[in-house]
Amino acid sequence: MNVLVTYTEYFSPKVCPYVREILASLTVGEVTSVSDTSTKFHLPEDHQQTFVALSVLSRFMPLFGMRYNNIKACAQQRNPGGKITCQNNFIYFIYMMYSNQKIFPDVNLTLTLYCVSITESGISVAEFGCATGVLVNKLASRFKNSTFLGSDITGKPLEIARADANSRGIQNISYSTDNIENLPEKYNDSFDWILTRFVIHDLAYPRQALNQIYQCLKPGGIFSMIEVGLEGGIAGNIANGTSMFYYSASTFMCIPESFRQPDSAALGATWGASLAREMVVKAGFTIINETASHTDEKEIHFVCQK
Ligand SMILES: C[S@@+](CC[C@H](N)C(=O)[O-])C[C@H]1O[C@@H](n2cnc3c(N)ncnc32)[C@H](O)[C@@H]1O
Repeated sequence: MNVLVTYTEYFSPKVCPYVREILASLTVGEVTSVSDTSTKFHLPEDHQQTFVALSVLSRFMPLFGMRYNNIKACAQQRNPGGKITCQNNFIYFIYMMYSNQKIFPDVNLTLTLYCVSITESGISVAEFGCATGVLVNKLASRFKNSTFLGSDITGKPLEIARADANSRGIQNISYSTDNIENLPEKYNDSFDWILTRFVIHDLAYPRQALNQIYQCLKPGGIFSMIEVGLEGGIAGNIANGTSMFYYSASTFMCIPESFRQPDSAALGATWGASLAREMVVKAGFTIINETASHTDEKEIHFVCQK
């Protein structure tokens, strides 16, 4: 049992009033527990994922708050496409994702041994929607025989990725600003391995992007689609803390990101594993493996082959 604070301490001046109120709200929300007979607040084993998810969610609250009025206005319109400008604070979102390594420590572990073994031999790899390059820079620094492309639709995060690579002497990587929904012809049949992490569900035209990725892979090449992969729809996710996080983040971040055009797919992060599978198969891929992240069971690595 994870004891957070004893009941006696809770009512003493030793406990900061903020901590007291946070603990109380977690307890009435059934995340942490206390009973009349108990002398301690504790975190039940099976609520640990929820606790972690809520602690991540709370870091996003200021950002969600900044968007509150915008989102409210959009929700009141019949056609909310393109009404929110995201890029100004999107970079802030990316920073927050990685500001505490404890939140996403598993970023490179989501890659299967299969991908690692082929990368040792020296191949051509691209990550689209790489933002500040956390993943692709790590890979480039580890697999010196392979060449890497870090690509994103926005240039600003790539400057950070480039500066990081320069400061660490990583030489087998280049960066490019590209729209994954409409990639340049020079990429056709040119990569052995393409990665995306938390990108496809954010796109206006995800099916188009999957077709483009297929086209850019060499025959037999691998597409690693790392995505939120909820199973069971709404009914299958009741009272799941991680799912609560993803539904909230999707409302404030993913739907406005995707809803750039009136005919945007606007899938949201909660699009679900079954739709994800259906879409990659429709684009021509065969799914050869699926693994969940060690730290977030809802983060799924779909290994797809051309
Ligand atoms: C949720 S972030 C994920 C960033 C990073 N892959 C990660 O795992 O943290 C989505 C990224 O996709 C990029 N993106 C959005 N639309 C894109 C498009 N059409 N083409 C390429 N990248 C795009 C965004 O700029 C952003 O960096």
